[in-house]
Amino acid sequence: MSDLKKLTGARSRGVLAAVLMLSLGSTAWGAAKKIILDTDPGSDDAMALMLALNSPELDVRAVTVVPGNVTAEMGLENALRMMSLAGRCDIPVAAGAKHPLFQKLITAEFWHGKNGLANVELPPSKCKVDGRYGPDLIIQMVHAAPHEITLVPVGPLTNIALAVLKDPSIVPLVKEVILMGGSVGGGNSTAAAEANIYNDPEAAQIVFQAGWPITMVGLDVGDKTLLTPKYLEQLRQSHGPVNDFIYQVASYLIQLSEQFGSPGSPMYDPLAVGVAIDATLVTAPPMHVEVETHGEFTRGETVANRHGVVERNVLHGDRYIIEGLDKVEPNAKVCLEVDAARFLEMFVSRIRGK
Ligand code: BDR
Ligand code: CA
Repeated sequence: MSDLKKLTGARSRGVLAAVLMLSLGSTAWGAAKKIILDTDPGSDDAMALMLALNSPELDVRAVTVVPGNVTAEMGLENALRMMSLAGRCDIPVAAGAKHPLFQKLITAEFWHGKNGLANVELPPSKCKVDGRYGPDLIIQMVHAAPHEITLVPVGPLTNIALAVLKDPSIVPLVKEVILMGGSVGGGNSTAAAEANIYNDPEAAQIVFQAGWPITMVGLDVGDKTLLTPKYLEQLRQSHGPVNDFIYQVASYLIQLSEQFGSPGSPMYDPLAVGVAIDATLVTAPPMHVEVETHGEFTRGETVANRHGVVERNVLHGDRYIIEGLDKVEPNAKVCLEVDAARFLEMFVSRIRGK
């Protein structure tokens, strides 16, 4: 056999193996990561969902819908329409909570358009809703695949908290939680609080204190990933139902950002999916994070201890004296830096032509 034939034979066997691995839900590096995307779709949620569905590193086992950017009903309709557009009626889509645990829902049509999807009207869905309640579906799937499921919440943490409250035994069985929410440098809903946390601080506190491995993909790191007209142009030059939908959503978001003086649109939710795909995109030191649930000005703030210690104050007569430092155990990896260009290129390459 000629060298060329040997080479092309080897190469086609390699391609065949790759195709087989993809169709079996695995990548060249092993099995695809099983994720449940919990979402409040939502325009950047739409981009996150399409990134997840088009990434061979991920195996999207379910989509659960939480109210946030839009009502629970509208979010469900949006999720179903997007799954239909993507031709993925095989993946269960379940409705979850109808409102936050203890406060009224705050919806964000102001940012996401009146239908939550940048005013892009998708055709009615061919997919049907799964009859299970979102938190129950999470509980069932975690028990069915212990230590294999990664939860990727990109909305308020209501559904995840409800799942933990109902069945705390899932906590050690979840592989990890990669969530979009919080910030270590101020908020977008208020000076202190990021929207997903502000929309259900009690739920967020339950999730942060549950005791599972968390990666927090916050507002401040998301702000470093701006989808600019350069990337939009790349999407404009290719076509496909998902590509064209995301192009329209991204155009809307970029225009909106420009009105507020930013050169691009932050990719908050897609970055959480990006981190699920490839954790090396970010630098995420471990910290202890608490969610402020009472503060007059700071309700919904994620209070992160960057130094891993607090001062030990000991009462001596009428005053306290600092006698040393007490260690605090980290409960989350907090993303601080991101390779934005690598992430944005990955996003566009996954969506182009789809
Ligand atoms: C988060 O809030 C929502 O508006 C976005 O979808 C994202 O999940 C950013 O603060
Ligand atoms: Ca969201």
